[in-house]
Amino acid sequence: CGIVGVIGKKNATQILLKGLEKLEYRGYDSAGIYVNDQAGHDHLIKRVGHISNLEEAVTPDVQGVMGIGHTRWATNGGPTEANAHPHVSNDERFYLVHNGVVTNANELKQQYLQDIELQSDTDTEVVVQLIALFAREGLSAKEALRKTLKMIQGSYAFSMVDRLDPTVLYVAKNKSPLLIGRGKGFNVVASDALAMLSETDQFVELKDQEIVTLTADAIHIETIDGKVEERKPFTVKVDDGEVSKGTYPFFMLKEIDEQPIVMRRLVEKYTDDHGNIVLPEDLLKALQQADRLYIVAAGTSYHAGLVGAPLFEQLAGIPTEVHVASEFAYHQPLLSKHPLFIFLTQSGETADIRQVLVSVKERGYQTLTITNVASSTLAREATFMLQLHGGPEIAVASTKAYTAQIAVEALVSKAVGEAKGLQAAKDFDVIHELGLAATGQQALIDQKDRIHELATDMFKTTRNAFYIGRGDDYYASMEAALKLKEISYVQAEGFAAGELKHGTIALIEKNTPVVAIISDPVTAARTRSNADEVQARGAKVLHIAMASQAQDGDQIVVDEINPLLAPLLTIIPAQLLAYFTSADRGYDVDRPRNLAKSVTVE
Ligand code: G6P
Repeated sequence: CGIVGVIGKKNATQILLKGLEKLEYRGYDSAGIYVNDQAGHDHLIKRVGHISNLEEAVTPDVQGVMGIGHTRWATNGGPTEANAHPHVSNDERFYLVHNGVVTNANELKQQYLQDIELQSDTDTEVVVQLIALFAREGLSAKEALRKTLKMIQGSYAFSMVDRLDPTVLYVAKNKSPLLIGRGKGFNVVASDALAMLSETDQFVELKDQEIVTLTADAIHIETIDGKVEERKPFTVKVDDGEVSKGTYPFFMLKEIDEQPIVMRRLVEKYTDDHGNIVLPEDLLKALQQADRLYIVAAGTSYHAGLVGAPLFEQLAGIPTEVHVASEFAYHQPLLSKHPLFIFLTQSGETADIRQVLVSVKERGYQTLTITNVASSTLAREATFMLQLHGGPEIAVASTKAYTAQIAVEALVSKAVGEAKGLQAAKDFDVIHELGLAATGQQALIDQKDRIHELATDMFKTTRNAFYIGRGDDYYASMEAALKLKEISYVQAEGFAAGELKHGTIALIEKNTPVVAIISDPVTAARTRSNADEVQARGAKVLHIAMASQAQDGDQIVVDEINPLLAPLLTIIPAQLLAYFTSADRGYDVDRPRNLAKSVTVE
């Protein structure tokens, strides 16, 4: 979910709506705003679905100088108008927006709110009703908030208005991200700086368990125990201009097309004039000293991590494990003596990863976040940070961040291997390889029309599909299948080609689509046999092969590249196959159902 708030600006409604549009990547099940003009008028408007539905419902008389807004990714309670935020106490005094999950809401409801008729199924409403209850018992708004915060467990970023005193905006945070933006004669609050960049570039970080009161002219930060904190703002720079679709029908297609540029940009950003890779000295040292790397990530970024592990092992000589963040957070393997944690994350906000970061930081381990968003929570909180330089990625289905992550992993492993004097790293000409990636990607992007035809042929009406490969081709298969699933709702699976015969092959029927990815010279022949085996059982097979491994009849041939980087090319046709399947089925490619670009709850 995403939250915004503003105080001290005449056009509060517009600022909130514009901010919510920028936060739609955090969820779009429903949205709502509350605005107050500090002269006795206020409005609460909520709608199910995208922000555009809310915007349509906001009439010109909905004006204010302060307010709060929310875009939701449903956790507790379905995506209905009643469950949409802001939530309001039954006495209509307090209005609250929330990002996060309060895990003991049911217990609190039982204990304190037996006599109160709740209007929704959400944990958030429990919180706002509790605050109102404690206020009725005589506490000030701030003390009622504090008392409630001390009782609740779980994660939250809150922004609250007390209708009796709309000159103050209340803010609190624990585990969920939240930033305060400082303006001249106004202040704002947002889950992500991006939402408020048109108002200010000065932001103040909040720490967990802090309460903030904002007025038009002042920001007062204190801990939950009342200790006053002073904190200087930092400047956030993002090129707002890149956040536009231009002539593209969907952001996803634009972002697929941008991948060759990102490859070239990464070479430029990470190397000097002599072709040497430039990394911060202390990071290079920390990586050299690490006896094992733990790559922790979610979704597409996890798949990029899988491709990264062989790079770190073969080029930098460091044993590397790759873990799904939500699993690693609570079931950690036995760690090595000097581990270093790498968090791969496009957004830098994924709550599952933050949970891991907090726990490994407590144990004193070093951490590196590789992210597309330099101002994000995970970027700020890790020991080291490297940027993906992909430019804003808007489509929920990640494309350019995936290939950028692999490229950065290649650059980092090459730098570490070289610093250690390893021959494998010396022999790996990463600048040349990323150049090959850029041209190879462009060649595939230029075949869009043909790939569109193949998408129609393979997936037009299917309900299921398989991608198979071995090694890096298996990892690319997993990502390829995820792309197809998330935007076209085809039940797709990425499978280790050799494992298929041990059970899953039973699912193959006449015309079941199977895409075989064949780039790895060591296993190419075997994967090809596995593809023949499913074809013999009626499957409709599409081969994506690297030039040196290709045979007559292979439908898609990708250029030659070092096999360690093959997914930089083999994934491109898979991204396009998924894109065209979704677009042809008439789906909202950029905003698939049930998903959010950045999942800020565990
Ligand atoms: C969400 C998105 C995925 C993304 C994953 C990890 O689930 O829908 O597309 O891969 O989060 O996001 P991150 O920002 O950490 O890379």
